[in-house]
Amino acid sequence: MSASERSAFTSDPNLRVLLDAETIQNRIREMGQSITSDYAGKRLHLVAVLKGACVFLSDLMRHIDLPVSVDFIGISSYGSSTKSSGEVRITKDLDMSLLGKELLVVEDIIDTGLTLNYLVNIFKSRGIDSIEIAALLDKPDRHEIEVHARYIGFTIPNHFVVGYGLDVGEYYRNLPFIAVPEDPSKFSK
Ligand code: IMP
Ligand code: MG
Repeated sequence: MSASERSAFTSDPNLRVLLDAETIQNRIREMGQSITSDYAGKRLHLVAVLKGACVFLSDLMRHIDLPVSVDFIGISSYGSSTKSSGEVRITKDLDMSLLGKELLVVEDIIDTGLTLNYLVNIFKSRGIDSIEIAALLDKPDRHEIEVHARYIGFTIPNHFVVGYGLDVGEYYRNLPFIAVPEDPSKFSK
């Protein structure tokens, strides 16, 4: 365990570390290098999905060696906190137009895939053809709809996870690692 993880979090008996901070950082560096070579000579427009993707975005963008612009979209699922309905309400729309941009949507996790599918359809309806996805985590066992993500950090088993942007009941987003909460209801109220 690295020094950055020697904190009160690590003694939290509710948390079982799935991906430690160093593993996450190494993989994000690789993802940034792939994106940099795939989009060589182009400008890239990153759209991060609030709130979960903000930690991933902030690390990923620093490993992309290209002219990059950044925007955010806020969405709220109509489902419960641990189950997505796929119907999405936009709580904060984009500030910038997408027209003419090479768009890379940055998301924390593909679970059922319903949220990203919904978002891609929204962006397509706004006339955008060049849409790719970078997701830090993918849970293939949970997919209800196939979403093609060009960049995936880690494929993980079907566990509810927290940390590195991901929450339960708005807590745990600030963990520098990704963990499985033994009792997800602990902070869900
Ligand atoms: P979807 O099921 O692919 O539509 O995922 C919708 C959203 O649910 C994701 O963007 C996450 O914010 C959240 N989510 C899905 N799985 C997890 C998890 O394991 N931990 C925390 N949030 C999750
Ligand atoms: Mg989310």
